[in-house]
Amino acid sequence: MHGVIERAHPLLDRLRIETAAQHDALEAGLALLDRPFSRNRFLGVLKGFHGFHAAWEPAAAQSAYAEFLMPRRRLAGVERDLRSMGLAQADIDALPRCEAAADLAATSAGVLGASYVLEGSSLGGAVITRALSGEAWLPEGGFAHFNPYGDQTGVRWRETRAFIEREGAHLQDEVTAAAARSFDLLLSWLTRR
Ligand code: HEM
Repeated sequence: MHGVIERAHPLLDRLRIETAAQHDALEAGLALLDRPFSRNRFLGVLKGFHGFHAAWEPAAAQSAYAEFLMPRRRLAGVERDLRSMGLAQADIDALPRCEAAADLAATSAGVLGASYVLEGSSLGGAVITRALSGEAWLPEGGFAHFNPYGDQTGVRWRETRAFIEREGAHLQDEVTAAAARSFDLLLSWLTRR
């Protein structure tokens, strides 16, 4: 065809297909779109994401992909949301951490797989933010954590996909396994009792 360059994304296609069931399990486990929307449920999920990012982020910042990850950090956004929902910084600092999330950053493939999962969460985040608009307890401007990029969500996602595809081309099995591990860890951490 004239003028259209279709880029293949074999790794991203694999990631989507091979982790689709885990995505759906996490979406169902969090039940963020169930009605009535509960402020408490959101607070619990946000605390869980805080624990994940608090362990993952410093470890990922030591990895080979620190520069790529810098503008994709989510911890400050989660903390802002928690404060706007009434938590004091001292309580935030004392929240439990998912130490195992740091292990995901031990290899390049691990960072790429986890980044796929964490960045992909911004896509559902836009849906969640729209669904909640109008709730009295929604932080002003919406949740920074669930919707960190606003109208740049699509642009960011395309950049992330291209980066993972390029860097992970020779590590497809390992990146896919790491994405699956990331989803598993998130599901068990965020739905623990
Ligand atoms: C209620 C919760 C959620 C909803 C409603 C939801 C919904 C969605 C939707 C609609 C998409 C597709 C967007 C598009 O193709 O433009 C998507 C993609 C994605 N979501 Fe979720 N999501 C949720 C939670 C999560 C969570 C918690 C994570 C991970 C922490 C996650 C990770 C991903 C990933 C990695 C993709 C990209 C799939 C691909 O490769 O195309 N989602 N989600």
